[in-house]
Amino acid sequence: MATTQLVRQAIAKPLSKISNTSEQKILGILSTPKVALKHQFGIPIPRLTAHEPNAVNYCKELAGKFEPNQYITKVTPVGNFLHFDVHPTTYIQTTLDQVSNEKGLYGTSTREKEETVLIDYSSPNIAKPFHAGHLRSTILGNFIKRIHDACGYKTIGINYLGDWGKQYGLLAIGFKLFGDENSLLKDPIHHLYEVYVKINKLAKEDPEIDAQANAYFKLMEQGDKEALSQWKRFRELSIDSYKHIYKRLNINFDVYSGESQTEPYIAQIYSMLEKYELIKVSEDGAWTIDLEEYKLGKAIIKRADGTSLYMTRDLASLALRRDMFGQFKKAIYVVGTEQELYLKQLFKISELISQHDKKWPTELYHANFGRVLGMSTRKGTVVFLQDILDTAKEHMLESIQAGNQLKLNDLLQEDRLDPVAENLGSSAVIIQDMVAKRVKNYEFSWDRMTAAKGYTGVFLQYTHARMCGIERNANIPINMKADTSLLHEKEAFELALTISQFPDIVQSSCQSMDPCVLVQYLFRLAHVTGQANSTLRVKGADKDTAEARLLLFWAAKTTLANGLKLVGIDPLNRM
Ligand code: ARG
Repeated sequence: MATTQLVRQAIAKPLSKISNTSEQKILGILSTPKVALKHQFGIPIPRLTAHEPNAVNYCKELAGKFEPNQYITKVTPVGNFLHFDVHPTTYIQTTLDQVSNEKGLYGTSTREKEETVLIDYSSPNIAKPFHAGHLRSTILGNFIKRIHDACGYKTIGINYLGDWGKQYGLLAIGFKLFGDENSLLKDPIHHLYEVYVKINKLAKEDPEIDAQANAYFKLMEQGDKEALSQWKRFRELSIDSYKHIYKRLNINFDVYSGESQTEPYIAQIYSMLEKYELIKVSEDGAWTIDLEEYKLGKAIIKRADGTSLYMTRDLASLALRRDMFGQFKKAIYVVGTEQELYLKQLFKISELISQHDKKWPTELYHANFGRVLGMSTRKGTVVFLQDILDTAKEHMLESIQAGNQLKLNDLLQEDRLDPVAENLGSSAVIIQDMVAKRVKNYEFSWDRMTAAKGYTGVFLQYTHARMCGIERNANIPINMKADTSLLHEKEAFELALTISQFPDIVQSSCQSMDPCVLVQYLFRLAHVTGQANSTLRVKGADKDTAEARLLLFWAAKTTLANGLKLVGIDPLNRM
């Protein structure tokens, strides 16, 4: 059991007896530990017993009655609050024991994975630029998936590609005119985009093109073999090269789906909506769902010409997902705030359907996020994921070679330069995206994100590598049974307290689906580790003290590594 849980129980049990309140209630109100050297746990007494007329006096009374125990040394009434001090030695020991037992699993839940959570993320549109919104969705979605995994859910990561619609008819026409087999095979993402830009330009001048595109897409919808095989090829080549790029971010999708896959379910959606009397047919023959009474406007479900829309396909994809994955606990859509109204409509329509079809999924969540301002790479302002990662890597290479990094160039071996720069580049991009609350917009800055100091991925990686360096240089093995009672400095206690917060942080970061909770914590952990490292020397200390300190730093490093992996960063042992 987590140290914080043990201590919370060591407070709740006796407090429940002397205050006549249930343990459950106390546990619900009791704070998680603060990293202060005194009063790590606290509880507001008025929330515990609202009926006590004089909370201040009651606090004093409870403090007088509370008997110290193995974990709690002291109880102090502070106004309306009761504050508890933990026993440093026991606390450090329990914390380090837990990390040594769980190692790479420290912070994760051990419960049986029963509930399934679907995460719809990244979801770029084939032949269109992978814009900043897709970058954020990719990075945040990967985190949301990993943190749900860590909290004991069965997760399914879905890449819901924009791979259907009239624009693929247009693309096919474009490929006949401007396509080049070699370029397609070499770099499908860029080449298809080039074709797309050219044919769009031409379509503006020549209305004939538009008609051809419509006709082509109609063929696709009718299942024309030739039309479909061309489209399928574009799709598969694009997916292959996406996979390659996602790998650079340690991202792996369970399913590559997309709007095209919903085709077999569209008819079923129409008949269902009709049967449940949710449809209004407008004068031109288009089908809409009126959501005015929920202040959500109107949603068009079928165009006047009979074709489906983004909304129709998202509804169909819910039917598809239910068929593919069975009942799921929740589905999370990692999409920018721009699509907020759209997703509210989708969720409301789902709720209306579920009033008739009890098995229709309704636990749908929008993990929204703000915009990225000023993102461009050295190649220009149209941004592809690959170019973002390449540019980040180039920046890191330059910065390492110029010696701007915290003496990184001294530590680095020549043959590791390239992989280290690659790793640091993506760490920089990921952390920049996660330091602030996800709903906030942020300014994209190569200089800020690749700096070695401040709230950057490089700083976190540097801290991790430095901790590994301490282990390497200690010349003694890590002893999991080291005598931790030798850690009596306040820096050691503070570090153990910080380490002990990790499992709670993982939970709350999962609940809020916001990586900033975890990332802010990792910075705190890195800073406290740095402070401890500057006072608690391993080298030169007597053997027992050195072993105890080494174990403490090992636990800090392990916690940092576990946290980095949750945000999608592969921790570097050496730079
Ligand atoms: N392809 C869409 C876009 O680029 C994002 C898809 C999000 N997921 C969804 N189920 N609607 O805007």
